Amino acid sequence: MEHIVVLTGAGMSAESGIATFRDSGGMWEQYRVEEVATPEGFARNPQLVLDFYNARRKAAFDAKPNKGHIGLAEMEKDYKISIITQNVDNLHERAGSTNVVHLHGELDKVRSTADPSLIYTLTPDNCEIRLGDKCEKGSQLRPHIVWFGEAVPMIEEAVDIVRTADILVVIGTSLNVYPAAGLLNYVKSGTPIFLIDPNEVKSYRDDIHFIKKGASEGVEELRRLLN
Ligand code: OAD
Repeated sequence: MEHIVVLTGAGMSAESGIATFRDSGGMWEQYRVEEVATPEGFARNPQLVLDFYNARRKAAFDAKPNKGHIGLAEMEKDYKISIITQNVDNLHERAGSTNVVHLHGELDKVRSTADPSLIYTLTPDNCEIRLGDKCEKGSQLRPHIVWFGEAVPMIEEAVDIVRTADILVVIGTSLNVYPAAGLLNYVKSGTPIFLIDPNEVKSYRDDIHFIKKGASEGVEELRRLLN
């Protein structure tokens, strides 16, 4: 079975109603990254950061997988599929994908600020954390999200996965954020690379097959091309 590795970003979930970051109207026009997505921001104003992620968690729980997520899950019938996502929603899993690595954390999980191994899963009817919500050792809980300036613990596993790709597919990422964007460097030479995005994406590689479509139509087109 051919191994298809799929690197996804915010555009993958755009058609599910979740805002991207850098498009016009995106998240980073409404919020300052330093305030809501850095350890310093959390130290300065934890309430603001908890509110930000509580709102995003609710939106993610309310969203449904789109045809792109579902198409990728269906492809498991014919290929070994590994998904490496920068997204913190769980729409790939809810569409049925069984092999998903989250590079930037997971919205439905929270963890202890004192002991990162203490991780708890929230549910749609209990999806907020507040100041004063503590782990079993008595420390404040925080979102299980990789903030800017923090290490990306899953990157080595992701590199190993990309190294074994027969085909790499990139969907809905502006390739602005490292180390995720650097994963394209690790494919074996000659590996076909497809990139699905309705907008131009600047990449340092010139061997990319560009499918200029949104995620749902793009995944459909990809499946036609691979057939
Ligand atoms: P960006 O917002 O930077 O890029 C989103 C990409 O999705 C752009 O290239 C859009 O053109 C594309 N897009 C928009 N609509 C689409 C659609 N319907 N179908 C497919 N693609 C579409 O988001 P990311 O590259 O994911 O990290 O951003 C990377 C990281 O930066 C995020 O994980 C987040 C952010 O700050 C953290 O918060 C740590």
